[in-house]
Amino acid sequence: MKDTIQIALLGSGTVGSGVVRVLKENERLLTERIGKRLAIKTVLVRDAAKKRPVLEGLQVTTDFETIVNDPDIDIVVEVMGGLHPAREYMLRAMEAGKNVVTANKDVLAQFGQDVFGCAEKKGVDFQFEASVGGGIPIIAPLKHSLTANRITEIMGIVNGTTNYMLTKMMEEGSCYDDVLREAQEKGYAEADPTADVEGLDAARKAAILASIAFNTRVHLSDVSVEGISKITPADIDYAKDLGYVIKLLAIGKDTEGKGIDVRVHPVFLPQTHPLSSVNGVYNAIFVRGNAIGEAMFYGQGAGSLPTASAVVADIVEVARNIQNHNCGKLLCTCYEEKPIRPLDEVESCYYIRLLVDDKPGVLGAIATTFGKAGVSLKSVIQTRRNIAEHAEIVAVTHRVEHKLVREALAAMIELPVVDEVRNVIRVESEQE
Ligand code: NAP
Ligand code: HSE
Repeated sequence: MKDTIQIALLGSGTVGSGVVRVLKENERLLTERIGKRLAIKTVLVRDAAKKRPVLEGLQVTTDFETIVNDPDIDIVVEVMGGLHPAREYMLRAMEAGKNVVTANKDVLAQFGQDVFGCAEKKGVDFQFEASVGGGIPIIAPLKHSLTANRITEIMGIVNGTTNYMLTKMMEEGSCYDDVLREAQEKGYAEADPTADVEGLDAARKAAILASIAFNTRVHLSDVSVEGISKITPADIDYAKDLGYVIKLLAIGKDTEGKGIDVRVHPVFLPQTHPLSSVNGVYNAIFVRGNAIGEAMFYGQGAGSLPTASAVVADIVEVARNIQNHNCGKLLCTCYEEKPIRPLDEVESCYYIRLLVDDKPGVLGAIATTFGKAGVSLKSVIQTRRNIAEHAEIVAVTHRVEHKLVREALAAMIELPVVDEVRNVIRVESEQE
């Protein structure tokens, strides 16, 4: 048996360079923990001419064939990102009998079935802890430590960029455009921040989390998604006045018998909820199980070393499996086929902010319209907010099906006294 486990790294950007550093800095303790040396044999990059001091002494290539055809390579670590060619490279590596570790949520959320199928067929490991929550352990806890539970709910702050932006808006009253610019200047938000601010990054993570928590395949297209770009300082003020914070949450619920409900959207969260104090770029995932009750996993959801922490842990797991001739054993855990619950059937409380004419009878007309649609109101606030001849009405509903709220709002906008539906945000109620 070889005394070194050989690794090929696909990508040496933020995460890849972190993986190189962790493997170098912790080389001795990792060797002691595994009983064998881990060595990076080859690193695949796009631009071989780029100066990369972290890769000094390592073989760098731009040709994937040198990796897939190298019989010495035991583990391929995919940290290049994107759908293609990352998916094809992972599949080819597995076809060649190599174990794969990845941080790639895009491929998992869209092609999870393909990669698990291939790993199963070839009897190799496929690990992906870093794909959700960066350095936070959540995939392994769901598959191992919490496996005694029926998980009914998983709810997370899984996007650091938007959590940083919402925290700044809550703390400083800044507007969306200003905090987005600041997040870009600090390097949290990308030059094209669409995937983060419109909720797509969180939706990919929601699909992965729900698939594992509920043992059923949830595709990205099953997740209903709404981002944070419509949140204004006015919504932030109302949230504070009512005792809430606004968070972008990835939510998965297993409504026994009625299907799986998976969504990403901003939420009014009670200030007393454990997720409400998760601020800045930090991430956290809250899990409810029928034996453990509530549990929460908190930490850095992105960044070079935190993400590398999860990737290297996966490498160690695979290395141990190689040692014990145990690869390819715990792969896809989606052994059920549960239906996805249509969004229209999902019940929530809602915050609804309307711009209306400031004249007598308006409140009554609005309450009647809600009532006719079957939407029961918990509270109503009317303010002028310095708007000439107009007022704002904020209604908070009791729990109601999404369909009824949609129909109430369609009727509302037809009322001559209602000028605009300014925002609609779900409220996570403590009395549910
Ligand atoms: P990154 O900084 O953009 O690095 C990507 C690396 O992959 C670069 O070294 C690039 O080569 C290489 N690469 C890209 N396309 C390639 C191709 N077609 N052929 C060869 N090499 C290619 O990306 P990252 O932030 O490290 O993210 C990597 C993965 O980790 C993504 O799936 C991401 O979603 C996931 N992830 C990232 C974080 C984070 O904090 N950044 C956290 C959790 C998960 P060049 O250097 O030559 O351009
Ligand atoms: N763009 C992600 C975030 C990090 O802002 O949390 C990578 O998953």
